[in-house]
Amino acid sequence: MTSFLRLLAYRNRWIYDSVTAVSSLAVGGVQRLRGLGLEALKERLEPGAAVLDLCCGSGEAAAPWIDAGYAITGLDLSPRALDLAVQRYPLMQRVEGLAEDPPFADQSFAAIQLSVALHEFPRTEREQVLKGTLRLLKPGGWLVLIDLHMANPLMRFPQRLFCALFETETATAMLEDNLPAQLSALGFTDVEQQLLAGKALQRIIARRP
Ligand SMILES: C[S@@+](CC[C@H](N)C(=O)[O-])C[C@H]1O[C@@H](n2cnc3c(N)ncnc32)[C@H](O)[C@@H]1O
Repeated sequence: MTSFLRLLAYRNRWIYDSVTAVSSLAVGGVQRLRGLGLEALKERLEPGAAVLDLCCGSGEAAAPWIDAGYAITGLDLSPRALDLAVQRYPLMQRVEGLAEDPPFADQSFAAIQLSVALHEFPRTEREQVLKGTLRLLKPGGWLVLIDLHMANPLMRFPQRLFCALFETETATAMLEDNLPAQLSALGFTDVEQQLLAGKALQRIIARRP
């Protein structure tokens, strides 16, 4: 079931931005949240490499990559979000499509970012999306995933409340799952998980062999 507040936040930009601003305080603010993917991978990629921001929304998490000179493609199912993204970040290549069936050739990207989006998928589709990233990465390429994680006991109630108000059941379900183990089982190597914001957020990097 989708909550009324979630629909309202997706239709009214200022609500979405305010919720993001408040929830990102625990990692040091919106700028830090948006830069978590680049921060994890910048030492591991060639300058100007091709990077896919999967489920890019209106492009806020693509922006730090663009500013750093990477060739960014943003894929999302929402034409409205993509329009806003290219209006704000004209250097981003816009692709409308499904993350479960991304319209790119094998080995197209040196890195793929999935920023706070994987929790939107039920478990089976989530696995499909992650398998797809493995296909799209060049050998030795990197996936960086930023998403919710089961918070420590102090933060657990606020996290549950946040999920109930602004997320779908898929987010709550994902809190129970061990994403690093799932990535390893799919064939990724060098899987590293970092827990942030009282464990409420996880950043995982993983490599295509
Ligand atoms: C919470 S937003 C995150 C946006 C962005 N990655 C960020 O960090 O701000 C999740 C995005 O996933 C997109 N999305 C959800 N399901 C999708 C799917 N099946 N294929 C492509 N995009 C999808 C939504 O349209 C939305 O823009």
